[in-house]
Amino acid sequence: MAFDVATLRQDFPILGRLVHGRPLTYLDNAATSQKPQVVIQALVDYYSKGNANVHRGVHLLSEEATQAFERSREVVARFLGLKDSRGCVFVRGATEGINLVAETWGRTHLRAGDEILLTALEHHANIVPWQVAAERSGAKVVVVPVTPRGEVDLDAFRRLLSPRTKLVAFAHVSNALGTVNPAVEMTRLAKTVGATVLIDGCQAAAHFKVDVPALGCDFYAFSGHKTFGPTGIGVLWGRPELLDTLPPYQFGGDMIRKVDFEGTTFREAPERFEAGTPDISGAIALAVALEYFMPRQADAHAHEQKLLAAATERLRAIKGLRLIGEAPEKVAVLSFLIEGGHPHDIGTLLDADGIAIRTGHHCCMPLMKHLGIPGTARASFAFYNSFEEVDRLAVSLEKIRKMMA
Ligand code: ALA
Repeated sequence: MAFDVATLRQDFPILGRLVHGRPLTYLDNAATSQKPQVVIQALVDYYSKGNANVHRGVHLLSEEATQAFERSREVVARFLGLKDSRGCVFVRGATEGINLVAETWGRTHLRAGDEILLTALEHHANIVPWQVAAERSGAKVVVVPVTPRGEVDLDAFRRLLSPRTKLVAFAHVSNALGTVNPAVEMTRLAKTVGATVLIDGCQAAAHFKVDVPALGCDFYAFSGHKTFGPTGIGVLWGRPELLDTLPPYQFGGDMIRKVDFEGTTFREAPERFEAGTPDISGAIALAVALEYFMPRQADAHAHEQKLLAAATERLRAIKGLRLIGEAPEKVAVLSFLIEGGHPHDIGTLLDADGIAIRTGHHCCMPLMKHLGIPGTARASFAFYNSFEEVDRLAVSLEKIRKMMA
């Protein structure tokens, strides 16, 4: 499939709009990605032609909706490199996926004296659920430091692993810095002490091929909206045999085998964790997004790496601009500070030029504290971004730098 950015951009209607009279330069993809027309159309088609509840009706519409919903699970499995879709649980997003594990696995397995190993670059969504699980169980949260370049300190990681480590949870890719963690090696090391491993794949899924069996983890979570799909839908994958041993997360329709006032029995995964009417349209549109993305994934990654190299070079050349996070393995995320300027001011001034970025702590307050900074300005790219947009960012930042000097 030919990879031509100018042509691909036409698939994303929003990229054609103006912001403050300027062409939109959308560089806030780590917060949420834009959606191709096929995804938007899938939502319209579902509600205009196919709306019905799943797993419940004998009528045609319900059968069609059920088939489309379950087909989406198969697409998700393929996206994650899995042969079996049974471990793919539809959730609202990675946040809900991690909360589900902290609640169900945490309640079942964590005991006083156990340790939960996290890294200093985690998103709050991969910190707070574990803090709560630790408080409840008497377990302890242990944190692996990151190096000044923004990499997980692997020596410290090795040292902190012990037979007390019951769970290791880490981001595949840092949302704040773009660092790609050595997930295969970290999982392998965690397994030497018998720990269960959860990977937050939120920032990885839109940038390179995720191969869950090759990772060797026990849980993997990602969000649809960061992967060109709609908001409100995401996936938690768990080893099916492990999921089946966990108590349900929520209770209601579709997740039961038999309800009796004397007692209720539950289904196996994935239905066990999908109480109530799921986000049917979201799951269907997510599958469309993944099917749009998968054939382009390898080229998209190569293009983004070129964007990253070009943007890094341009930003490095701006006097007084400091890049935060310069790990050798990164996705196209550039966090930075400009001398004399607050990140929020940088964001506001870029917005006036039609350039959308995110500023602040990026839901990583412990990482910012660790790095000794209040926050950053963050430009995050997707495969539909162009070299012209790198140029616009650099020109605008050079102007802002002069205003702040
Ligand atoms: N976690 C998202 C971000 O990094 C919202 O912006």
